[in-house]
Amino acid sequence: MIRSFLALPLPASARDEIDLVQDDLRGAMWTPEENLHLTLVFLGEQTRRTLEDLDALLLKVAGPPFALELAGVGHFGGRDPRLAWVGVRESAELRRLQAKLENAARSAGVAVADRRFTPHVTVARWGRREVTEERLRDWVGRNSLFSCAPFEVDGFELVQSELSRHGAVYTPLARYPLTAPPSP
Ligand code: 2AM
Repeated sequence: MIRSFLALPLPASARDEIDLVQDDLRGAMWTPEENLHLTLVFLGEQTRRTLEDLDALLLKVAGPPFALELAGVGHFGGRDPRLAWVGVRESAELRRLQAKLENAARSAGVAVADRRFTPHVTVARWGRREVTEERLRDWVGRNSLFSCAPFEVDGFELVQSELSRHGAVYTPLARYPLTAPPSP
């Protein structure tokens, strides 16, 4: 079985800008630069066969490249936050692409969780109560105006995720370019 997800890789320019918010949050583990990404669909553990079926469907996903901007910061985990993120400026193109990929995953037989897509880039994680409420509030306050220069999304990837004690290792398995339709 292969644990994997569909994601947008981030260009070096965006990763450099994200580095600015990975400043000071005692107790948190910052996501290493090479692991920064925007998850579109989490696939979980799948057989190679399912991923092959999915690959055939993803090759048919068409759509033009589009611009995307990261903005704002926040955290997930409710009253017990465990993860800090950089947000994404609302993008109909991103939602359209995400919906196509989710449909493709379902058609390939993946039981995708029935949750609303909340686009984000995870920039830090931590264990239970390892970051105090106060430090998290300060971090959000310092970085709430974060935004990065728009960048072009010209493809997405199928990425394998291997979990180890030293953190996740992500390996791109396939890349799917987005290309403008030929002019009539
Ligand atoms: P996260 O960054 O919000 O934790 C690889 O693990 C990617 O898939 C991560 O970006 C992670 O999102 C996401 N992911 C991991 N487990 C998941 C799950 N059970 N449901 C949805 N997304 C998950």
